[in-house]
Amino acid sequence: MLIAIEGIDGSGKTTVAKLLVSRLRGMGLDARYTYEPFETPFSKALQQLLGRVSPVVEALAMAADRALHVENVIIPWLREGAIVVTDRYVYSSIAYQGARGADIEWVIELNKFAPKPDLGLYLDVDVDTALSRLQGKSGGRWSTFERREVLLRAREIYLELVRRGELIYVDARRSVDEVVNEVVRYVIEKLRGFREFSSSPSASHRPAGGTA
Ligand code: TMP
Repeated sequence: MLIAIEGIDGSGKTTVAKLLVSRLRGMGLDARYTYEPFETPFSKALQQLLGRVSPVVEALAMAADRALHVENVIIPWLREGAIVVTDRYVYSSIAYQGARGADIEWVIELNKFAPKPDLGLYLDVDVDTALSRLQGKSGGRWSTFERREVLLRAREIYLELVRRGELIYVDARRSVDEVVNEVVRYVIEKLRGFREFSSSPSASHRPAGGTA
């Protein structure tokens, strides 16, 4: 099972993704945390170029970074039967490179190599809350993306992805505990669906290896 946790900078998604993994592990499940950008040479090169390259170059570098992440981590872990929780995924490219001016449908097309997550959760906070949470932390490697106008547009795109049914909305202005509880509920619901499916007579007749 692949779970993507999304949100603008300052939404608390890293904290929530890590707590989700420890809650699932506490239930005896093999849950594993991973993240994007995946710190491959592609995203490291982009860091050097940031602010001087177009959003098309950003999207290409992020897609190459993601392709390595998918091939070297996500797919092997899924094959081992793990619940993979990725802190950012394709939707970050759609929201951020879209916000920077790349054609959204092109970004979607470019990322079609990446397996669709079983669950995509969008942690929503307004930009003022996000920026106040980022105070003191920003100015980092990706500060080009942490500007108000980028975050405002990225949030709009995320909300559009929620309307399209690609992501599930989670109100992340609440306490971390409340947010994590809701996220855990969505995951458990999904896992129940998986178990019912795999124990149904039609599912047991599916050919071996017939994964998602
Ligand atoms: P992080 O703060 O979650 O580590 O992410 C680093 C920055 O990279 C964040 O500002 C969002 C941005 N980003 C993109 O612009 N496109 C992408 O595809 C990804 C994965 C991240």
